[in-house]
Amino acid sequence: MTSEEGDGGGGVAVEIGEAYRNPTEVKMSQIVLPCHSNHCGELSAGQLLKWMDSTACLSAERHAGCSCVTASVDDIHFEHTIGVGNVVTIIAKVNRAFTSSMEVGIMVTCEDLYTDTHWRVCQAFATFVARRTETGKVQLKPLTPHTQMEQMEYSLAAERRRMRLIHAEIITDLLSSSTAQLGECQEYQDAVPAERTRVESVELVLPPHANHQVSTFGGQIMAWMENVATISASRLCNAHPTLRSIDMFHFRGPSHIGDRLVLKSIVNNAFRHSMEVGVCAEAYQGDEPQRHINSAFMTFEVLDADRKPRTLPRIRPEPVDGKRRYQEAIARKKIRLDRKYIISCKQTEAPLSVPWDPSNQMYLSYNNVSALKLMDTVNNWVLTSEKNNVRLYTLEENQMLCFKVEMNVSVSAQQTFHLLSDLRRRKEWDRHYQACEVIMQADEDDTIYRVKTPSVRKGGKGQDFILLASCRKPCDVRDPYLIALRSVTLPTHPPTADYDRGEVLCAGFTILEESVAVTKVLQLFFFSSHLLQSGHTRSSSLHLYGHCGTLLVVFQRFFCLQ
Ligand code: COA
Repeated sequence: MTSEEGDGGGGVAVEIGEAYRNPTEVKMSQIVLPCHSNHCGELSAGQLLKWMDSTACLSAERHAGCSCVTASVDDIHFEHTIGVGNVVTIIAKVNRAFTSSMEVGIMVTCEDLYTDTHWRVCQAFATFVARRTETGKVQLKPLTPHTQMEQMEYSLAAERRRMRLIHAEIITDLLSSSTAQLGECQEYQDAVPAERTRVESVELVLPPHANHQVSTFGGQIMAWMENVATISASRLCNAHPTLRSIDMFHFRGPSHIGDRLVLKSIVNNAFRHSMEVGVCAEAYQGDEPQRHINSAFMTFEVLDADRKPRTLPRIRPEPVDGKRRYQEAIARKKIRLDRKYIISCKQTEAPLSVPWDPSNQMYLSYNNVSALKLMDTVNNWVLTSEKNNVRLYTLEENQMLCFKVEMNVSVSAQQTFHLLSDLRRRKEWDRHYQACEVIMQADEDDTIYRVKTPSVRKGGKGQDFILLASCRKPCDVRDPYLIALRSVTLPTHPPTADYDRGEVLCAGFTILEESVAVTKVLQLFFFSSHLLQSGHTRSSSLHLYGHCGTLLVVFQRFFCLQ
């Protein structure tokens, strides 16, 4: 095993030769040996989870300078299996430190030493928390991003944190509303009784299972969970299952040496080519009641000789709780598919307007905010014009055309945000906003509007847009306020004959307090080339370009009057 913790110390940029190296970066490389693999000669996912957790923990502790525990690991999707003899490399680095918690980004790649080929296995984000001291909660030092990539991850980490902290609540709400609509479970002939897939296994936590702080090592718990889940999955299909994805792991409470860990798993539902296994870990010592340590949902497939997913047998759920889990697995599958669709949509690809519904709201607003953040962190904008201290930048790359308008105003960032985040007020300064109504308040920070604009062609129809506006307040002083806009579709608001339905791929504002008296406002617009090919949008973009200066002078005046 080779494990490097980098050379430099906390927070100082490390130079290795010419190259910059993130001081929190930790790298582990392992040759996959038969002792790490399952009976099919593939690296066991449990072993990989252990390596990922220990690499990430070393990175977190490198930044924190004290011991840290795993609080959660976000959804992981395994893109490939890894064979014996291949080399696995895991790179972990802290993306951002909050108060006592940090987001650690983990990248896993694989290498075939004989053919010199490399491929990506998975990417994951884990949250580590610095252990409390006698004086209470630890306040971590902030992390300073140095490169454009680090700046981007730093910025996105805040949005991912928001998503994981509301994750459990949102999933519970969605499950209760969507399972109510699913009705009765379908009965299949020859279905496998779920009871047959039930597994219970106990583990005694010994010193080799504990980390250097004598708590049960998070990676070990995940590996034990994966082990029982694999047994459940194998019992359904009487074959070797392949783990495809794991929904978020949340470590609810600690476990220590001497604990008995009870691991339970069962197949919740089997679909055509995949099945969901639910796993739970509980701990106890002596006569103590069992403590709930962790629960997870794992998705397995069974591959045939050509590595194609095999058709799986159906499952017959047990009464009451089994039926509930069966229905919830259908709802979670829909949430996963929605998420996969939204996350996989390239920004330059159609369709631009993604259907909005409560089950994809969380990912859609993540996608909305992250698209704007990504655009903001790009550093090769070209200054195209400057007038009355309003600067217009353009960027044309990867089939995208982007505009950025930058100005300083002497209104507080909070007030600027307040004014701009209500789209209904925009017509006060933007004559292209003829009318704007709220269709729906999706949650506290996300609103769906219908906006009407006049025609950009003489005698043409006006345009209307269905826009999701996601508004975010800063996490710390280095964060801007943010208003991200993108088009969505709603069945209740189809296009009408009176208006051409317009689409916005990504637009919005970032608002940063530069000093007590000065706020920097950036307005960003983003067009994909396929949109620009349509004459209508080309003319509106040229129009927009031509009028940006004038528009922003009006905008600036508007702020002076506030
Ligand atoms: N995902 C991500 N972060 C989480 C989280 C979750 N599910 N739950 C809590 N946190 C973060 C909070 O946001 C907070 O971050 P901040 O200080 O930067 O604002 C931090 O954890 C501490 O939260 P707090 O409310 O003070 O503590 P808590 O009582 O929620 O405890 C843990 C959080 C993680 C310390 C506690 O749940 C625990 O001990 N879990 C077991 C950890 C473990 O044993 N892991 C495996 C072995 S290493």
